[in-house]
Amino acid sequence: MQKAILRFGWPPKRTASIQGSMSEAVRTILQEDGAAAKEPGREAEAGFLWDFWYPAVRSAEIRGNRLVTAMLLEVPLVLGRTAEGHAFAMRDACPHRGIPLSYGHFDGQTVECSYHGWRFDACTARCVEIPSLTSQDKLKVERIFAEHYPCGERDGYVWVYMNAPGTRLPETVPAAPALPVFSKRYKITHLDCELPSHVDQGIIGLMDPAHGPFVHQSWFWRSKHSIHEKEKQFEPIPYGFRMSPHSPSSNSAPYQLLKRITGEGVTTTIDFVLPNMRLEEIHSGKMWFSSRATVTPVRRDLCRIDFVAAWNLQFLPVFLFRMFGKTFLRQDQETMIRQAEGLKHDPKLMLIDDADRPAKWYFALKANLQESRRTGTKMEHPMTGPVTLRWRS
Ligand code: FES
Ligand SMILES: [Fe+2]
Repeated sequence: MQKAILRFGWPPKRTASIQGSMSEAVRTILQEDGAAAKEPGREAEAGFLWDFWYPAVRSAEIRGNRLVTAMLLEVPLVLGRTAEGHAFAMRDACPHRGIPLSYGHFDGQTVECSYHGWRFDACTARCVEIPSLTSQDKLKVERIFAEHYPCGERDGYVWVYMNAPGTRLPETVPAAPALPVFSKRYKITHLDCELPSHVDQGIIGLMDPAHGPFVHQSWFWRSKHSIHEKEKQFEPIPYGFRMSPHSPSSNSAPYQLLKRITGEGVTTTIDFVLPNMRLEEIHSGKMWFSSRATVTPVRRDLCRIDFVAAWNLQFLPVFLFRMFGKTFLRQDQETMIRQAEGLKHDPKLMLIDDADRPAKWYFALKANLQESRRTGTKMEHPMTGPVTLRWRS
């Protein structure tokens, strides 16, 4: 829906200047561009957290020998699935002359570049053939690799482990994240939306408790007049924080309905975990609902929310949930489109207590993680113990 509005200007139109014989001036511009991209620290400036898994595309998008493209942390990727069913991800650039490999051909095993036909094994990205070589050539083809990234499929997403540029992969890459589920049978659905903002704005928007009554006013959820004082316990968890198990807001209709149906108390637990994940679990008797929202940096001025929810509540059909979910996401998206208008002019911003404390924790967690990686020391947690926050919403 809104996607068309948001996909502004990518990719930048650089190719227009490479017509006919390349003038000196054009050549210099191209070289400077290339140099800027390789400058050390440029990636750090973008404020991305490397060495984590990020969802790249929905599993269903990769069918047969199709190659699909995605961008994560400003890295263009080409993804596919081998004949044996293994998803793979490579940088969408041939190591020979840089043409996107996604223009090439995939036979279920190897990706063939569309320019000079070099072929790369899809899973290892190792070059297996350079058609122009003669029997006299000594070039060791097997020493050439395209850039590739670990890839895993979970919860209907193809996840890519984005190791920092210029670094080696760790000996063991952790498993890709999985949505917690609590029974054999359940319903599951996915939603996504793009936000024209830096990932930090997307994330603090996601965990912001004070915008609800103003942005998410709906007859089915709550009204502005239901605003009241809240008090919630938070506790530190590895790489994040938890809103301790509690009974959800009494001014939200769906929770009231759930309570009436099961006749038991409702508890909800909400976690935020670096780099970008909000997990929510709701339990009432045997009924459960579990959701995860991730905010993934595409570029420094564009991020995407991927939302997946699973539940065993028979009375909640998927279509109905999607209808409400889409309304919610659209409300957030519209707000962030407007916010981006303001942020273009670099205004001074503020974070206030207590409503913006989670945002402060996020920034502190992120800074502490980067510091611990830089110094090779243990990461310090910004929270020393449980904290009670109070706000009105
Ligand atoms: S650019 Fe890919 S084979 Fe030459
Ligand atoms: Fe929201």
